[in-house]
Amino acid sequence: MDSAGQENRGRVVLITGAGQGIGAAIARRFADQGASLALVDVNPEHLRKLAESLIGSAGGILQLTADVASKEQVQQLVEQVVTKFGGIDVLVNNAGIIRDNLISNISEQDWDQVLDVNLKGAFLCCQAVFPTLKKQRSGKIVNIVSRAWLGSIGQANYTASKGGLVSLTRSLALEFARFQINVNAVAPGAIDSPMTRGLTDEARERLIRMQPTGKMGKVEDIAAAVAFLASADAEFITGQVLHVDGGKSCGLLSL
Ligand SMILES: NC(=O)c1ccc[n+]([C@@H]2O[C@H](COP(=O)([O-])OP(=O)(O)OC[C@H]3O[C@@H](n4cnc5c(N)ncnc54)[C@H](O)[C@@H]3O)[C@@H](O)[C@H]2O)c1
Repeated sequence: MDSAGQENRGRVVLITGAGQGIGAAIARRFADQGASLALVDVNPEHLRKLAESLIGSAGGILQLTADVASKEQVQQLVEQVVTKFGGIDVLVNNAGIIRDNLISNISEQDWDQVLDVNLKGAFLCCQAVFPTLKKQRSGKIVNIVSRAWLGSIGQANYTASKGGLVSLTRSLALEFARFQINVNAVAPGAIDSPMTRGLTDEARERLIRMQPTGKMGKVEDIAAAVAFLASADAEFITGQVLHVDGGKSCGLLSL
C-alpha cells in the first residue's frame, strides 16, 4: 500500500454524485484504503448498489440521498456526516450533469439545471463543510471540473459551469489557505462512464477522435488524481487544476 493509502485509513471522505461512474470509482479508491465514506447521490438506487459492493472494505458507510442544488438538503447531509463520523477530512464535489446543445437551442431550464447542479451545488457543499474544516484546521476539497472548461462547442452551459467552478476553486484556495484547507480541481477529459455512454455513437466517436491517446480514459484515472490531491503529498498544492485528459488540453491535433 502506498503512503497515501495508509494515511486514508479512518479519514472521513464525503463524495457527491457517488452513485456511479467517476464518483463510484473515487468511493472505491478511498474504501480500498479504509476510509469512512459519506456517499451522496440524488439517485438512491445507484447509492444502494454501490454501498452494497463496498461493505467490508470501507471504514464505515453513510448513504445520503440528496440533491446538491438544494441548500437545505446539503446543510442536513453535512450535519448527518458530522454527527456520525465526528468530522470531515475530504470533500469531493463530483456531482455533475450535461444538457448539451448549441447556444440557440439551450433552454433557460437547461441552463439553470446545469449551473445549479455543477456550480451552485459545489458552492453549497463548500459553504456547508467550511465551519467543520475551519474548526479542525485541516481539510481537502477536490472539485471535479472538466477539460471542457477551456471551451467546447455545443456545451456553453456546461463549460460555463465548469469554468465557474475553476474560479470558485481558486478563490476558495486563497480564502481557506490560512486554515490549512486545500482546494483543488481535477479536469477529466473524455472518460468512459455512464455519462459518456449516454451519448450518441457519433458523439462518442468524435470524442475519441479528438483524444491524442486515441481512446477514452478510465474512471480509475480520475480517482487516482483525486486520491493524490487529498493526500499529505499534496499539502503545498492549492488552487490548481490537474488535467487528467490524455493530453487533450495541450492543443489541437493536426492529422
Ligand atoms: N465522463 C466524462 O467524460 C467526464 C469528463 C469531464 C468531467 N466529468 C465530470 O465528472 C463528474 C462525474 O461524471 P460521470 O461521468 O461519472 O457522470 P455520471 O452521469 O455517470 O454520474 C453522475 C452521478 O451524479 C449524480 N447526480 C446528478 N445530479 C445530482 C444532484 N443534483 N445531486 C446529487 N447527485 C447528482 C447522478 O445520479 C450520478 O450517480 C461530473 O461532474 C462530470 O461533469 C465527466
